[in-house]
Amino acid sequence: TSLIPQEKGIDHTLALLSEGFRFIPNRLRNYDTDIFQTRLLGQKVICISGKEAANVFYDNELFQRKDAAPKRIQKTLFGEGGVQGMDDAAHSHRKELFMSLMTPERLQVLNNLTNEHWEISLDKWQEMDQIILFHEAEELMCRVACRWAGVPLKANELKQRTEDLSAMIDAFGASGPRHLQGRTARRRSEAWIKFVITKVRTGKWSADEDTALYKIAWHEDPNGNLLDLKTAAVELLNILRPIVAIGRYITFGALALHEHPETREKLQSDTDNYSQMFVQEVRRFYPFGPFLGARVRKDFTWNQHDFQKGTLVLLDIYGANHSSELWENPEQFRPERFHDWEGSPFDFIPQGGGDYLKGHRCAGEWITIEAMKTSLSFLVKQIDYEVPDQDLSYSMVRMPTIPKSRFVIRNIRGKQ
Ligand code: HEM
Repeated sequence: TSLIPQEKGIDHTLALLSEGFRFIPNRLRNYDTDIFQTRLLGQKVICISGKEAANVFYDNELFQRKDAAPKRIQKTLFGEGGVQGMDDAAHSHRKELFMSLMTPERLQVLNNLTNEHWEISLDKWQEMDQIILFHEAEELMCRVACRWAGVPLKANELKQRTEDLSAMIDAFGASGPRHLQGRTARRRSEAWIKFVITKVRTGKWSADEDTALYKIAWHEDPNGNLLDLKTAAVELLNILRPIVAIGRYITFGALALHEHPETREKLQSDTDNYSQMFVQEVRRFYPFGPFLGARVRKDFTWNQHDFQKGTLVLLDIYGANHSSELWENPEQFRPERFHDWEGSPFDFIPQGGGDYLKGHRCAGEWITIEAMKTSLSFLVKQIDYEVPDQDLSYSMVRMPTIPKSRFVIRNIRGKQ
């Protein structure tokens, strides 16, 4: 076997915080490798990248998710006791619950709701001088999320609920105040959703049978027991929160339209499935998830490198999306690259790779693609707007990231 290139020093958490999305890719380049070893948050960590690496990372016999995510991520982004940290039969059973919500009919409902809420928002925006697209898109997606999931949302709650769902996402790579805001947001959101689920379970509120609220409230574990209230709330938030996260991709999509004006017309006419290619390219090009973590389940050797039971392994996502091994001219925004893309489950993994049911690949990938298509098509087909001067740059250190100005648009009018 051969040695894994090893970064010297006691701990590199500070380097991770100061290099952000480029932490793994920088080292892969420096060591000219697809694997290296470092130390983060006081433990040995192996980082891997590429299609083969993704393939092994999603091997359930070699890796587990139990004890993989740090507490600070569970207290903010994920919640405790949810699907992300489960393995084997318990995971598949829980994941089926999520995937049962992703039928073509339910995707159509989500699309219709998304379109409807863009129309409602347009009426409001036409009365305003300018809007901050990121905040509006998150609020819009919060309404869509609650309606789609069957969760009642009063008009006077909308702002707080959106802020909280957003703050949980915004906390994932944070320390200090942003992390603490994420914790507060999670506590408040779990209390809200526990209340909602209790209303359903006690028969005080009714919920449609095909909604996430109903299915999660009445989901039975393999032993026939309902989920405990906290876990049920965590899982319902695993639906609401990431739908709000689509607001970030919508904002990046609007940025792409602005930075590459030639794409606007193509999206308008949408021949050759251009909207699909455009959305894929937004998900490839703009940074969202930096990497994923799993723990080695038993000793094994991969590409002549020894992996020891218990080691934390990070799979590079951002770097894979920008790797010249996988993509031609990766730093170019070019939707057409997806024209001939064959679609391996391991080479394009902005929302994780592998299999939806057997593995941890994002349950909401189809929803994300659909809601982005609907939203970006609305932006180019239904409205005209101006983009005033502003700082549209986005940090590669802040995780997650977003254009500094949050994308201001003004003079918004419905197209005639
Ligand atoms: C898992 C990204 C939208 C539900 C994941 C994973 C990533 C991800 C990277 C981890 C994959 C892994 O651990 O192997 C994103 C991004 C989104 C998005 C960037 C859009 C902005 C959604 C939506 C939903 C959703 C809309 C649901 C409505 C989930 C769930 C999991 C997950 C339930 C856990 C799956 C499991 O552990 O088996 N997502 N996601 N996500 N996502 Fe998403």
